[in-house]
Amino acid sequence: MNAEIKVEAGGLELATPVVLASGCAGYGDEWLELVDLDAVGAVVLKGVSLEPWPGNAPPRIAEAPAGVINAVGLENVGLDTLVREKLPALDGLPCKVVANVVGRSRDEYRDVCSALAAERRVDALELNVSCPNVEARGMAFCADAEGLRDLVADCRDVAGKPLWVKLAPMVTDIVAVARAALDGGADALTIANTVPAMAVNVEARRAVLGNVYGGLSGPAIRPINLRLVHVVYKETGADLIASGGVDGWRAAAAYILAGARAVQVGTALFDNPGAPAEIVAGLKEYVKREMFDGLSFLVGKLRGDRK
Ligand SMILES: Cc1cc2nc3c(=O)[nH]c(=O)nc-3n(C[C@H](O)[C@H](O)[C@H](O)COP(=O)(O)O)c2cc1C
Repeated sequence: MNAEIKVEAGGLELATPVVLASGCAGYGDEWLELVDLDAVGAVVLKGVSLEPWPGNAPPRIAEAPAGVINAVGLENVGLDTLVREKLPALDGLPCKVVANVVGRSRDEYRDVCSALAAERRVDALELNVSCPNVEARGMAFCADAEGLRDLVADCRDVAGKPLWVKLAPMVTDIVAVARAALDGGADALTIANTVPAMAVNVEARRAVLGNVYGGLSGPAIRPINLRLVHVVYKETGADLIASGGVDGWRAAAAYILAGARAVQVGTALFDNPGAPAEIVAGLKEYVKREMFDGLSFLVGKLRGDRK
């Protein structure tokens, strides 16, 4: 039984606080046989746009100290294929399914959300707002708080299910961005996406990635995103879902103490598909050992915290 680690997060009841991160578990089909499903509260599907996106030129993955840099470029099959082929394959899945939405304009985000609102197998939507906005000279949606609030409000109007907004870590004022998303009607914030990065092959005198720049993930970014979760929790008290370098139960517990209600696991799945089960076992043990009244009790409960 998972009674002690059941959580409510972002408008969903999750059997466990472990959520598989977008882009790291495909459309659900790539991990079904590898991951212990009892350990998973929800899976976030790979980002989907209105039309298929081809993604970036290879190489798309570079090694980094304590992490990886990816420049997949949000390659995806597009909305129609997701709805016709990928979602039906998820029928009978015991965990919740969250669709991750990407777009290049407000209209595109709204149209994708509106179409997914009708899909029975989608329990919630997560907006990836790190994408460049073609209507704002390529500036990321999350770089402009006012624009972000309007984008989220548009999607909120049509979504008809819980709406999570996944923020980028490198913004001038994370609290302003978080407030904008909440004002627009977000039920939860996912904090945060990858950190912009690059790698160079000095022998070849070339950038390793075909796209030159990519996003750093894995334990390397955990201290950065941990602070962001804490700052946003202290300032807003919102439902937060942590993302960034969760590779074991201690990392998950740290994010929960900092204010997250659930944690996403991404990069860790690549070399350890057993990570979700290990995290759940570790958290159960922690709750029992410390005699807490369930995991939710621990959310934001740092001792000696800043006032
Ligand atoms: C290969 C790869 C693909 C990703 N694709 C997406 C995506 O489609 N949408 C999205 O919001 N995040 C995407 N991400 C970001 C992850 O969901 C996650 O937020 C990030 O990697 C940090 O968590 P981690 O350190 O546990 O991997 C991707 C990450 C990786 C490594």
